[in-house]
Amino acid sequence: MQVVTSYTLRKGSPDRTGCDLVVIGVAQQGEGSSRKLVAAPGGEAVAEAWGRKFDPLLTAMGFKGGAGEVLKVPTGGTIRAGQLLAVGLGPLAALTPEKVRRAAGVAARNVGNAASVALALPAHDAEHVRAVAEGFRSGSYAFTAYKLGADRPGGVAILSDAARRKDTMDALERAETVGALVDQARDWVNSPANELTPSSFAESVTALAKKRRKGGLTVEVVDTDTLRELGCGGILGVGMSSANLPCLVKVTWEPKDVPDAPHVALVGKGITYDSGGLTIKPGASMVTMKCDMSGAASVVAAVHAAADLELPVRVTAWAPMAENMISGQAMRPGDVLSMYGGKTVEIRNTDAEGRLVLADALAMAVETKPEAIVEVSTLTGACHIALGDHIAGLFGDDEVVESVEQAAATSGELFWRLPIPERTSEQIRTESEIADLLQHNWVRWGGALWAAAFVKEFAGGLPFAHLDIAGPAFNSGGPWGHVPSGGTGFPVATLVDWLEQRAG
Ligand code: BES
Ligand code: MN
Ligand code: ZN
Repeated sequence: MQVVTSYTLRKGSPDRTGCDLVVIGVAQQGEGSSRKLVAAPGGEAVAEAWGRKFDPLLTAMGFKGGAGEVLKVPTGGTIRAGQLLAVGLGPLAALTPEKVRRAAGVAARNVGNAASVALALPAHDAEHVRAVAEGFRSGSYAFTAYKLGADRPGGVAILSDAARRKDTMDALERAETVGALVDQARDWVNSPANELTPSSFAESVTALAKKRRKGGLTVEVVDTDTLRELGCGGILGVGMSSANLPCLVKVTWEPKDVPDAPHVALVGKGITYDSGGLTIKPGASMVTMKCDMSGAASVVAAVHAAADLELPVRVTAWAPMAENMISGQAMRPGDVLSMYGGKTVEIRNTDAEGRLVLADALAMAVETKPEAIVEVSTLTGACHIALGDHIAGLFGDDEVVESVEQAAATSGELFWRLPIPERTSEQIRTESEIADLLQHNWVRWGGALWAAAFVKEFAGGLPFAHLDIAGPAFNSGGPWGHVPSGGTGFPVATLVDWLEQRAG
């Protein structure tokens, strides 16, 4: 049975806390032969209970205190709880909230069947309470639609000297709100493409908004016929190859009684499956392509979070949803599509479909005159190759890019800036003999840059950032830190921090 975990924040000494298992952080202090293992802030009383035997207890078991390491020991009455879980934090001098977040995630995956857990990790201020709560919650995630997940503790107490302070209590509440939506994004990404089609995805987004009954939060689904009337050639060009028809979902949060709230737009790629279309992908590259709607999942989740947190910012998520398949109606290399707003595009590669659905959605978002647009997409394998599994590519105008970097500094998610060369934009505008824009040129070098330059053509000159999350959106390997296998929920946390920052 899946247990719902309740989180509390309270003062208390971990050696005297009544629970099944206590988690402490263990860090490395000193260098070389004088290096020893010490309890990180919050866990000191546990180390004191063992006294001089604390370091030998851990060392004898081969525990070195490095990031990702865990050791569970029976306490034999040394402290009140029956089990102690030590998680490595690396060098004490280099401790950061992000390391605490990751260690809390590692702890969550190693609590076993303990029903009640106390976290005695560094939690002396709001930033660290947030890191502990987010990390543990995030690391506890399991996709349970088809298979039972691991046991979860029923109660988790975060021990903090700063408990009962408004800022730390707010931090815990916020971590739970945002964490629930990170999990929602993960669930959508993990849902197989035979279940999560454009229309079922749209229905799920609508149902989520209904369940929350939040005044000011609205969902609008633009169906295939309406997309045709509107002239959304990109979404239709990609989506008509599938029996599962395309649509566009708009989720808007409008705060009440804040007439001069800033107005921003989020746009997310919602390809529920990417077979590549006629330019078909090799079999192995197709396996994880249910993840190609991660951008849409993240922007929709972020707007729901903005509503839950009642952020004083007006925000719309635009999520074009389509399945890139093969049929008699599939678009072909050589076709010309007319996008929303009238720009025409020459297709060269049906596997470069993301930029096409994004073109329509961006052009529609521009008409609402937001003060900034952030677009999120699993757009290119090239970006995945360039930056690896953990880091997203960040492209666009300085001001928006820098504000996203600032948000990422508090969310802990990793981005690296890449350029949109003027020369590339020029090529896109001049190298088609037949249409306004060239979708793709079959040059492999800099493929992420071409894609970024292409989507920017539809941002109407408004302040714009493009997040290429092809790497970090989906974890095909084992879990690490607070990041599970499969859908990761990247970059919901950064988007929420960004919206909060925009709200001022
Ligand atoms: N959805 C893929 C990109 C992708 C790759 C996402 C790996 C997640 C992991 C995208 O639609 C795609 O196929 N891009 C092509 C672009 C190319 C045809 C210019 C690619 O990267 O090969
Ligand atoms: Mn593709
Ligand atoms: Zn794709």
